[in-house]
Amino acid sequence: MIEIKKDTYWVGAIDWELRNFHGYSTPTGSTYNAYLIVDEKPTLIDTVKDYGFEEMASRIKAIIDPLKIQYIISNHTEMDHSGSIEKMLQLCPNAEIVCSPNGEKGLKRHFKKDWKFKVVNTGDELKIGSRTLKFFLMPMVHWPDSMATYSTDDEILFPNDAFGQHHASAERYAAEVGEDIVFEAAAKYYANIVMPYGAQVLKVLEALKTLKLEMICPSHGLIWKKEENIKQILTLYKKWASYESDKRAVIIYDTMWHSTEKIAFELSELLDKENIPVVRFNLQNADYSDAITEVMRSKVVLLGSAILNNRILPSMGGFLTYLKGLKPKNRFALSFGSYGWSKVGFKDLEEGLKEAGMQLIGDGSYMQFVPDESEIEGLKSTVSKIKELISG
Ligand code: FEO
Repeated sequence: MIEIKKDTYWVGAIDWELRNFHGYSTPTGSTYNAYLIVDEKPTLIDTVKDYGFEEMASRIKAIIDPLKIQYIISNHTEMDHSGSIEKMLQLCPNAEIVCSPNGEKGLKRHFKKDWKFKVVNTGDELKIGSRTLKFFLMPMVHWPDSMATYSTDDEILFPNDAFGQHHASAERYAAEVGEDIVFEAAAKYYANIVMPYGAQVLKVLEALKTLKLEMICPSHGLIWKKEENIKQILTLYKKWASYESDKRAVIIYDTMWHSTEKIAFELSELLDKENIPVVRFNLQNADYSDAITEVMRSKVVLLGSAILNNRILPSMGGFLTYLKGLKPKNRFALSFGSYGWSKVGFKDLEEGLKEAGMQLIGDGSYMQFVPDESEIEGLKSTVSKIKELISG
């Protein structure tokens, strides 16, 4: 039984085995956080993935008879949070489902059931006894249905995916796990789940300014409780939502016969000599979700590919698709690579970077078959340009 504040409990499920969340690598697993508020009208805030239902139900049963639950708040339709609603309703058939207007539509599409819905909008309040809950719609953070629930008396925000992290642990609070680990997990989460919706996140942050926050209880990972952690995650969200970056570079590439790799290594060494922090990923063994986290941090993104059948390598094609969806703004980009007899395939790389919203740093660095000394030498001027852009 984990009571996070008097009569408010964490009743979620820990997914220790999860290693891949639709393409997002989760090396420790994740959690689906549900919360139970025991008041005159006991209220469950979110549920868990369907296979976590028994775990959640047993946690609830250790606190109250689930039949007493009057409201199930669905802050977000996605099935990692709403996947157990149907099973839960078998334990509390009279409960109403509280959700946003788009939440109702989404839940009906998923479950094909006409449950008792209580649709709420921003500013609406729900008295559950001595406590009042208030709702904030958060469209596109990160689905049209997303909303946050605020427990006004306890000053606890339940913002669902926002401020979350895919991290499984026995602890429940960020400060208990090690803040570096949790903030890194939060950065990866933002980069892979929330990044396209910066404008919407800024609106949410503006709305949250009016609230006193004793705790932020997201639907994944650890709870933000320590005052400075709450301040820091809000500051980071503002930075990320504003598409700010750090003075660093990331190199992401794939290679056939080591020539593109040679260019990648050379660029890496030259950036290093200029004291520009640089991180390198080879897509043959790197994970897209880790690479994209570095893209979010970096002012300059360097993408390299060999050419195969007049096209960039499939791994880079896949990465570009991912990048175009996540659209990191305000970044400079350089394309590079080795080709055999035609450079036409690099168009895919250049167009992809532009479509992802990046500004290209001049022409790409393309070298036939095996780079020679003079071509490698030429990378120095490219890196000088990068240095100027990073310092500017
Ligand atoms: Fe954690 Fe959008 O679901």
